[in-house]
Amino acid sequence: MMNWRWFFNILVGLLCLVVDFSDTQLVINVRNQGGDVVQENIFANVTDDTVSLEFQRSDGTLITQVIDFRNEVQILKALILGEEERGQSQYQVVCFIFHFDKDSFISSDAMSKLRQKNPSTIRTPEEDLGRSNYSMDYTVVLPHSGLISPFVADLCAEAGEATYTRHADLVLWAAAQGIPETTYLTALKKFPSSVNHFMSNSVEDDVRPSVSSCTSMKKMRSPCQCHLELCIGWYPCGLKYCKGKGQSKNSVMTYRCGIKTCRKCHLFAYYVAQKQQCLWDE
Ligand SMILES: *[C@@H]1O[C@H](CO)[C@@H](O)[C@H](O)[C@H]1NC(C)=O
Ligand SMILES: *[C@@H]1O[C@H](CO)[C@@H](O)[C@H](O)[C@H]1NC(C)=O
Repeated sequence: MMNWRWFFNILVGLLCLVVDFSDTQLVINVRNQGGDVVQENIFANVTDDTVSLEFQRSDGTLITQVIDFRNEVQILKALILGEEERGQSQYQVVCFIFHFDKDSFISSDAMSKLRQKNPSTIRTPEEDLGRSNYSMDYTVVLPHSGLISPFVADLCAEAGEATYTRHADLVLWAAAQGIPETTYLTALKKFPSSVNHFMSNSVEDDVRPSVSSCTSMKKMRSPCQCHLELCIGWYPCGLKYCKGKGQSKNSVMTYRCGIKTCRKCHLFAYYVAQKQQCLWDE
């Protein structure tokens, strides 16, 4: 008898483990604006208080979004396939780090509890939040990036110096953490010395290099301002609340009854040392 019970317990334990792992990841089929269907993988880690969302665009670009709720940091990484016939390497990776507004994505806890009834359904978001523009000011020094978020160094390892952030975001993080902006200085680097004469020396000033846009740049080896648009086609941007009858007579109770879904685009402008690294911007 004892042996059977022991066996049964182990079996139950294994089943729970399997269920737990498969359930933390959500696979969503999303129809994008071009009409293609892309598969988004969304994963919440409640311990870390993070949500990761990953998908491959129809042009092959692999996009990873990580939200670090604790530090109010959002990381957008793009792995872009190169155009080998034009002398590019197989792929390049860029990482953009910016402030995350706490109410713009459901919590990691709510995300981890999200289930879908019909996994094969092709989804479109309820609301299009349009596009935000970001002009990146700094390269993030990965070995010191833990000052911003502990997840940057690993996630952006392949991007290396192509990891960018803005001064405006540092101001928000410093305020949220109650520390001076200068705390972040060791984690930041101005753009390479060839364009440093375009910039001043203090954190507070506008440090954007005034190199011209890669769009108008003819020389492949010259530095320029590259543009890259990354859109998240579908994500849970808020909770929906419904009203129902409460426990006592005439009382009204509000309860969670679903999620609101959104689409949002991010247009990044950032420095590249050579037009070669920005061939799509034409
Ligand atoms: C969540 O993050 C913690 C800490 O980094 C890690 O130990 C754990 O394995 C993660 N959970 C899952 C399900 O990946
Ligand atoms: C964002 O940038 C695009 C392209 O450079 C521009 O057309 C648009 O007006 C900008 N939007 C805002 C809100 O600045």
